[in-house]
Amino acid sequence: MHHDPIELAVIGGTGLYALAELQDVSSHQPDTPYGTPSGPVRVGTLGGRRVAFLARHGESHSVPPHRVNYRANLAALKALGARRVLALNTVGGITGRFGPRVLACPDQLIDYTWGRIATICEEPGSEVLHVDFGDPYTPALRARVLAAAAEARVAVVDGGCYGATQGPRLETKAEIARMRRDGCDLVGMTGMPEAGLAREMGLDYACLAIVANWAAGAGPDPDETITLEEVLANVAAASAGIPALVSAL
Ligand code: HPA
Repeated sequence: MHHDPIELAVIGGTGLYALAELQDVSSHQPDTPYGTPSGPVRVGTLGGRRVAFLARHGESHSVPPHRVNYRANLAALKALGARRVLALNTVGGITGRFGPRVLACPDQLIDYTWGRIATICEEPGSEVLHVDFGDPYTPALRARVLAAAAEARVAVVDGGCYGATQGPRLETKAEIARMRRDGCDLVGMTGMPEAGLAREMGLDYACLAIVANWAAGAGPDPDETITLEEVLANVAAASAGIPALVSAL
């Protein structure tokens, strides 16, 4: 049995439903004030440190992006003692440096989602928070992610703006063109409200985005259709370095 604190919590996205490298795993399904998380939290050791892993969409990918209980997921990790969260998000690439199979650690985001519970101030009587969110990803944790990537010799693009869309459908070419004009480099469906909730809950939070495809109309062949096979194959290829990165982190 380990009673050391959890050094890091990892939330896995599409194509990443487990951290096979975790050792001595115990499973937890804490109830939270916000309901039940997407699945069990697997706690084990990696690189000699205690790490928690939670599959954002459930381990059999049964929860779509707009139905994820982001609050329960983060509250469950926090209840187990986690203070730092590395979010893995499968995304589409919009601008030139962010092609398929690139890993990126964005430093900004724009929220295009709607109709999701995006705050812990939802319940009557809860304290109204107006957290600072100018830098939506914790700068110190981002710096550690980039240092760990360098140590593990995993290429990660430093920076970029993540645009969070509602999904579950993919975007139109016009929507992606607008997002490019807005300054987005990456597009995904799960970056928000997760990052904002983490800030409200006082958790350090950084995103490691895994580019699965060119977003609609953004690639060299603007008429290419995006398939799930392409997405999963690129995520599998790009994820090879993630266990080493997490160990170094
Ligand atoms: N758009 C939104 N989310 C995504 C995409 C995309 O092209 N690829 C993987 N997640």
